[in-house]
Amino acid sequence: MNGQAIFIKELTKKYDDVTVVNTVNLSIAKGEIFGLLGPNGAGKTTLLMMLSTLVKPSSGDAFIKDYSIKSQPGKVRSSIGMVFQDPSSDELLSGYENLKLHALMYDVPYKAIDNRIDSVLSLVDLMNRKNDQVKKYSGGMRRRLEIARGLLHEPEVLFLDEPTLGLDPQTREHIWEYIESLAKKTGMTIVVTTHYMEEAQNLCDRVAIIDNGKIIALDTPENLCHQVEGDTIALQGKNLRIEDIKKLDFIKGIETDGDRIILKVVNSGKNLQQILKTVGDIDFIEVHSPDLNDVFLTYTGKQMREGEGGLMEHLRTLTSANHNK
Ligand SMILES: Nc1ncnc2c1ncn2[C@@H]1O[C@H](COP(=O)(O)OP(=O)(O)O)[C@@H](O)[C@H]1O
Ligand SMILES: [Mg+2]
Repeated sequence: MNGQAIFIKELTKKYDDVTVVNTVNLSIAKGEIFGLLGPNGAGKTTLLMMLSTLVKPSSGDAFIKDYSIKSQPGKVRSSIGMVFQDPSSDELLSGYENLKLHALMYDVPYKAIDNRIDSVLSLVDLMNRKNDQVKKYSGGMRRRLEIARGLLHEPEVLFLDEPTLGLDPQTREHIWEYIESLAKKTGMTIVVTTHYMEEAQNLCDRVAIIDNGKIIALDTPENLCHQVEGDTIALQGKNLRIEDIKKLDFIKGIETDGDRIILKVVNSGKNLQQILKTVGDIDFIEVHSPDLNDVFLTYTGKQMREGEGGLMEHLRTLTSANHNK
């Protein structure tokens, strides 16, 4: 299908009369790191579960390397690796034992198993912990082990459902580095779901923003951010020369927010000097360039961040904080 790794056509999932994935159309190129970004409940996991043949679509179809998820699920399964949102390794087994069990389930040729295990453990930098029980692993190490497990049968497409959910920011960045180096080393197509904006922005070549089961925007992170109108600069001070500011041609709007003046500015980096010269003495300044949260806000009228910090996620962060040493 024109070199596309994944081609999704009118894919829909309904539970009773609730549509949780709504006529999604999408194609993803070979070797792309593609992000599905959206708040909790947007339908990201359901979409991945359909693509990995674990949930049946209500209508529509999707093709992984030209194999239909509906009529060729076996072929699809051997082409993909899946790393689930919730941890699913056996804590009492070692990293090696977990991987061996999985290799046997996936019919990796018996003689190749040990070599394969060593190679995926090296990819995620866990060779030196191969024989340790998983319960002694940190949160980040467990995620890496699960990524290694998803790679065992050498899939061409890897699905990662919220790969850094509940991990602390530093461990999160490490996982991003592993995913990026994996993409480089293997040329694999990687689809990541996330509700973390920074993850989509830093990691992904292209991002689809998804809300209520629908794709509402799709582009590179840079282009998505450019769709949102200009930068904003918040200022506070006495006797600010607002009338003079209004005359500058790169000022596109002025609002007040309590004691603060909010300027809408074209290219704040270039024009900041001029603004400071014109406005007089200030006590406070804050410059903000659009990010994916602003894109989400523009399209949906609500903040994406509101979806974050649910109780489950808070608990996960607390639990994994103990491991992240
Ligand atoms: N098996 C199911 N039965 C009924 N509703 C479900 C089922 N699985 C998911 N849903 C609902 O579908 C919506 C999307 O869920 P999900 O795909 O898990 O979203 P996300 O991964 O983006 O947080 C949610 O409202 C969820 O409650
Ligand atoms: Mg999910």
